[in-house]
Amino acid sequence: MLQGVIQKSTLLCLMALCLATAAFGQYNQDFKNRLAPFVTSPQRAVDKMLEMANLKPGETLYDLGCGDGRILIAAAKSYHVKAVGIEISERLVKTAEDNVRSDGLEGQVKIIHGDFMKADLSNADVVTLYLMTAANEKLRPDLEKYLKKDARVVSYDYPIPGWTPVNQEETDPSRYGNRHTIYLYQVPTSFKK
Ligand SMILES: C[S@@+](CC[C@H](N)C(=O)[O-])C[C@H]1O[C@@H](n2cnc3c(N)ncnc32)[C@H](O)[C@@H]1O
Repeated sequence: MLQGVIQKSTLLCLMALCLATAAFGQYNQDFKNRLAPFVTSPQRAVDKMLEMANLKPGETLYDLGCGDGRILIAAAKSYHVKAVGIEISERLVKTAEDNVRSDGLEGQVKIIHGDFMKADLSNADVVTLYLMTAANEKLRPDLEKYLKKDARVVSYDYPIPGWTPVNQEETDPSRYGNRHTIYLYQVPTSFKK
């Protein structure tokens, strides 16, 4: 009898340990591959990025590191495009999915839980980025490999080293008077330095 109870509790302990290890493994994986922290683009930057992207209805926009999904939602609502977000944080994926659901945009917006460094971007007409210069540099070979002719890449605040923007504009000032640059790139024109 006592032996049975001990065996059962040992089994429960082992199961709990396995679950904790799996959860920690996922957390660790997310953390290891994270190339930028979560900071949201302000609405004035989102509006300007989408305006500069010159989106046409039916096109597909990818936001690499989509955070809470705000760029995807604004693009789907205002420009009637399909929008795909790739996000490494499981928690942010849930938040973005909730936001998409509450706007009734499930048919237009898809959130992928994963690492954008492993993504096939050949379907994208427009890619939006709010990462960091080093992350953009790391991503550049994939953008060059996957993006189709005439695809656009819009990057908030951080340029893509080695590429030449076809346009760059400042956001409207924040309440503290700060302005930030948005860079627009086009494939393949921008590949030359
Ligand atoms: C500065 S935030 C931008 C969020 C959103 N795009 C916006 O503009 O509001 C960068 C996001 O990239 C995500 N991220 C960082 N590295 C990633 C990776 N390798 N794969 C997918 N997402 C990543 C972070 O978790 C974070 O949510």
